[in-house]
Amino acid sequence: MGLQLSSPVIAGSSGITDNIENLKQLQEFGVGAVVLKSLFEEEIIAELERSQTQMQRSGFTFPETAEMEDLLPSESGVADYLELISHAKKHLNVPVIASVNCISSQKWTHFAQTIEEQGADALELNVFLMPSDFHAASPKEFEQTYFDIIQLVLDQVSIPVSVKLSYYFTLLGKTLKAISETGISGLVLFNRFFSPDYDLETMNLVPTNVLSHPGDLAQSLRWVAIMHGRVGCEISASTGVHDGDAVIKQLLAGAQTVQVASCLYREGLEAVRGMNERLATWMQSKNYESLEQFRGRMSQAGIKNPAVYDRVQFVKNFRAME
Ligand SMILES: Cc1cc2nc3c(=O)[nH]c(=O)nc-3n(C[C@H](O)[C@H](O)[C@H](O)COP(=O)(O)O)c2cc1C
Repeated sequence: MGLQLSSPVIAGSSGITDNIENLKQLQEFGVGAVVLKSLFEEEIIAELERSQTQMQRSGFTFPETAEMEDLLPSESGVADYLELISHAKKHLNVPVIASVNCISSQKWTHFAQTIEEQGADALELNVFLMPSDFHAASPKEFEQTYFDIIQLVLDQVSIPVSVKLSYYFTLLGKTLKAISETGISGLVLFNRFFSPDYDLETMNLVPTNVLSHPGDLAQSLRWVAIMHGRVGCEISASTGVHDGDAVIKQLLAGAQTVQVASCLYREGLEAVRGMNERLATWMQSKNYESLEQFRGRMSQAGIKNPAVYDRVQFVKNFRAME
């Protein structure tokens, strides 16, 4: 993405990256960059509507090009977020990547400009349209929203933009490739979802598996390996990275960077130091001096049709179990 990182390990967006103390510690433990906790599109829109109503009451018409920062009440979550960006920029040397969680190409996209003006080095869009939306016109129109959001945001900013996605697409490979060719600088594979469970005593819906496990690595590892060499931008791997070995595996699959979130909750922020140490020791043991010497070595870039390859592996695996 044109950013200089001292380590490929990035602190992914989560509650951990929503305050300056944690961000400073993460830098101390050796992260290459930080992705701030996401601001939700709904928060931005609600805030803008509130400001607009106030302005209209005082006879002021809200212009889309107005300095949003000046329009936001200082106690708002949005104003806090802008302050977090500027604090992070002031106190950190590592790149600061802001994040917006969005589901539409509504008027929030103007806000991307404010994020840039606040000093963010890059913007990560966490786009997740609910596949459970029965009101969507058609899969094609549904997917078009991803492209609309990206285009509108790219029109607003000159900082690099990355897009964090789910794997809920019919033709995941082709869709990721098309999205990677829109002018974005990075794809983040993958997002993590709310996973529901039932509490049998209270009969309530409760979240489960909020944090990932090391076993969750397989899905992102597989898709990083499939997409390496086939996309028009860099890939950042996210999900299931809990130790240095997982970092190395994602780099071998072809990731440019590797994001960590759950492991910071489970092991503490210092886990990053262990990952960097393991990566350095492993590289030394293999006589590698740079990441480029082995990045993508285990990818599927040389495989003509990963679908056929996958099918063969699947059949082989199940035969071996019989
Ligand atoms: C508690 C928690 C909060 C998260 N909040 C965000 C968020 O605000 N924005 C976002 O893009 N991802 C968020 N994520 C997703 C992580 O950035 C990451 O993509 C996902 O957890 C998979 O990586 P992991 O296995 O290292 O946790 C959150 C994850 C967790 C566990």
